[in-house]
Amino acid sequence: MSMIQKLDDLHKEFQGQIAGLTNQADVLNLKADYLGKKGKVSEILKSLKDASAEERKELGPKANTIKDSMQEMVQDKLTSIELEEINQKLAQDKIDITYTNSVKETGIHHGGVHPRTLIQQEIEDIFLSMGFDILDGPHIEDEFHNFEALNIPGDHPARDMQDTFWFDDPESPEGRKHLLRTHTSTIQVRGMMSRKPPFRFIAPGTVFRCERTDASHEMVFNQLEGMMVGENVSVANLIYFMKTILTEIFKKEVEVRLRPGFFPFVEPGFELDIKCLICSGKGCSVCKHTGWVELLPCGMVHPNVLKAGGIDTEKYNGFAFGLGMDRLVMMKYGIEDIRHLQSGDLRFNSQFKTF
Ligand code: DAH
Repeated sequence: MSMIQKLDDLHKEFQGQIAGLTNQADVLNLKADYLGKKGKVSEILKSLKDASAEERKELGPKANTIKDSMQEMVQDKLTSIELEEINQKLAQDKIDITYTNSVKETGIHHGGVHPRTLIQQEIEDIFLSMGFDILDGPHIEDEFHNFEALNIPGDHPARDMQDTFWFDDPESPEGRKHLLRTHTSTIQVRGMMSRKPPFRFIAPGTVFRCERTDASHEMVFNQLEGMMVGENVSVANLIYFMKTILTEIFKKEVEVRLRPGFFPFVEPGFELDIKCLICSGKGCSVCKHTGWVELLPCGMVHPNVLKAGGIDTEKYNGFAFGLGMDRLVMMKYGIEDIRHLQSGDLRFNSQFKTF
């Protein structure tokens, strides 16, 4: 048999053998058997010296082609085995990220979502769908953002409406004394200064007041501020947005009433109350036996506030509101004492959505 024939046979034999292999070690052994220093191909090539000059001319390139082809087969095989192993692993190591187990079964306590977070997310979605942005602001504020820019100068009696936690910072210049924000209206100021009208945004957040606590008052509570500024914004726009949001949240028409309300940053100002859903208006500790709960103070933004925020009052006006988030949560879930919300009691928290 000629050497060329021998090489061809070897090539075929190699092809047949490698096809059946399924692990990388076997492939590497086979490679050594054929292409190693003492491998079958090298053995044949060793006898090259006995071949005629004619034969050698043909054999050299032929041997190289066959060697290259074998190398290529080895590489392809190694890659396909590796791929196969990865696929097998992926098929076995399935993790079901939606899988939940009860505490009873596993002894592991899974986290839950605080009811306020649930409602906040819901409200954010509703406002986002109505074209509002969502803003944030700092808990530690200065007098300017918390009072002055909101038309509450230093000597204004309205400062006493909100008992404030002041910081002891004698160094700070006039009007820059620091405090824990008493309302999210501070973000109105930040919002106005950071954008150009027309704009609309909401700003949920925690606020702080040095108050005595009872079933409906906490020192640390939550509000959701809203503001819309544009040309020809009207009280009708305000009422439309307020009604839409309450209907969406409670998933039913709730009874509301609008009373005049005084807040220095709005003119006219309103108190929007809803009929107490805890007692259906009969009177309970949450509604202080009046049958109504103050939920949504609001009004048309006072021109002084717009000016402080850098808005041209000749051209633009707007409305604002400050939704009492904790009261809303209490109404929605029938919680009779605001203090439960901050208690951290897992028996309370786990009644809502858990993972
Ligand atoms: N910031 C007020 C408070 O905490 C609530 C409020 C009233 C906010 C009227 C507003 C508003 O935006 O228009 O008592």
